[in-house]
Amino acid sequence: MRQQILTLLKDAKAHYLSGEEIAKQLGVSRTAVWKHITALREAGFQINSQFKKGYSLTDTRDILLPSAVEDAMQDYAIGHTLVYFDDVDSTNNVAKQLAGQGAAEGTVVLADAQGRGRGRLERGFYCPPGKGLWFSVILRPDFLPKEAPKCTLMAAVAVVQAMEELDVRAGIKWPNDILADGKKLVGILTEMHAEIDRVKDVVIGIGIDVNFQREDFPEDVRDAATSLAMLKGTDVDRTSFLIAVLKRLHALYAIVGKEGFAPVLDAWRAHSVTLGCEVRVLSQAGQASFSGIARDIDEDGALLIDTAEGEKRVLAGEVSIRPAASND
Ligand code: BTN
Repeated sequence: MRQQILTLLKDAKAHYLSGEEIAKQLGVSRTAVWKHITALREAGFQINSQFKKGYSLTDTRDILLPSAVEDAMQDYAIGHTLVYFDDVDSTNNVAKQLAGQGAAEGTVVLADAQGRGRGRLERGFYCPPGKGLWFSVILRPDFLPKEAPKCTLMAAVAVVQAMEELDVRAGIKWPNDILADGKKLVGILTEMHAEIDRVKDVVIGIGIDVNFQREDFPEDVRDAATSLAMLKGTDVDRTSFLIAVLKRLHALYAIVGKEGFAPVLDAWRAHSVTLGCEVRVLSQAGQASFSGIARDIDEDGALLIDTAEGEKRVLAGEVSIRPAASND
């Protein structure tokens, strides 16, 4: 109910909505509305009230509205069920647990903040409240275990496509980072639970720096990180952006189900900032390291690199990019 009241007030922009109007729309009494407004204020939301006019949301922060996401995604294969936390250790942890308990495919776990956001290679991922989108999607694709990394590629394509709707041009750095102006603004961590020959469930965790300003990032990543707000010059509505990403992911997943993975690979190639570049590869174990030109990705999402010793195939690891020298 509180989410619904916030949604109504947010949709009304800065205009006033009377207690009676809200009560009518939600089918509750005016007293119930007043009680919920009081609770919302106690939770820190800034809601103004004026005699005879009603209530208006004066909060300047971007308020995440999970119930609006769930409503918008009711008829979609992804996002129809949304589990929301103001604060949680890691949405991937919760999603993995829910997947193991048989949660429906397409369930999304979303948090406003994560205390122990996890990145690839056992790294942490900084997820403060009010600034980003931290969420995990449960899928059960008909994939062999070795194909699970395709989920990361598909998610990256979904996010860059949703960014294009905002006129933000971003590129995908293999395997899972999204960059704009050479700075990172999205990370993706895909984890799977599999039997020997079959994926049981996949959790795709996506972290998007939405409304960060430079000083909001920890000092050590400030020069290497950016956000949608920094790129656009204005804050972005996280609720609408999440809906856009989930709709894109739904569409891509439907294509994979009908036509296979080739169209998604083509879309990934079109958005890649890795292909054609000179890269240095550090294997996942951190031992072997070599350089070459990233030529393509194969159907499993592995990076194919032309090196002095011939072609090398990298399924997991870390790459650093140097633009290839041009011929002119
Ligand atoms: C990376 O860049 O190394 C991957 C970062 C993935 C972060 C997301 S935020 C939502 C989900 N929950 C987590 O703990 N991690 C992922």
